[in-house]
Amino acid sequence: MQTAYFGRRYLLSASHRLHSDALSDESNRATYGKCNNPHGHGHNYVVEVLVGGPVDSDTGMVINLATLDELVQTSVLKRFDHTNLNYDPLFVNQVPTTENLCRAVFKVLKSTLPSGRLEYVRIEETENNFFQCYGD
Ligand code: NI
Repeated sequence: MQTAYFGRRYLLSASHRLHSDALSDESNRATYGKCNNPHGHGHNYVVEVLVGGPVDSDTGMVINLATLDELVQTSVLKRFDHTNLNYDPLFVNQVPTTENLCRAVFKVLKSTLPSGRLEYVRIEETENNFFQCYGD
């Protein structure tokens, strides 16, 4: 059956500081520049989720929008929105770059999606930067 895709965007505001314990303070400054500033900085991330799958013959949908919203709300936004990402247990041993945030969101959503297949999670960090994660 032909696959259809449903995409939806969510806003997520959070702060972070890019700092790796594996690097010296000097290397951290060289690697992350002003993003290594001890006070951190914030982003208004746009999280885009794309779900693909067959169209249900009864509902005419790949996935119900309300179901996806609920899922993203519960597992992603409640956890990360208006937080400092560095304090999330996930980022205790992992630098909270948007690459890693993208991987985390993908993993959380993939494991809880009731129907369809999570094709990708894309996170726009700024007007010019975006990151995208696909399944393995
Ligand atoms: Ni940043």
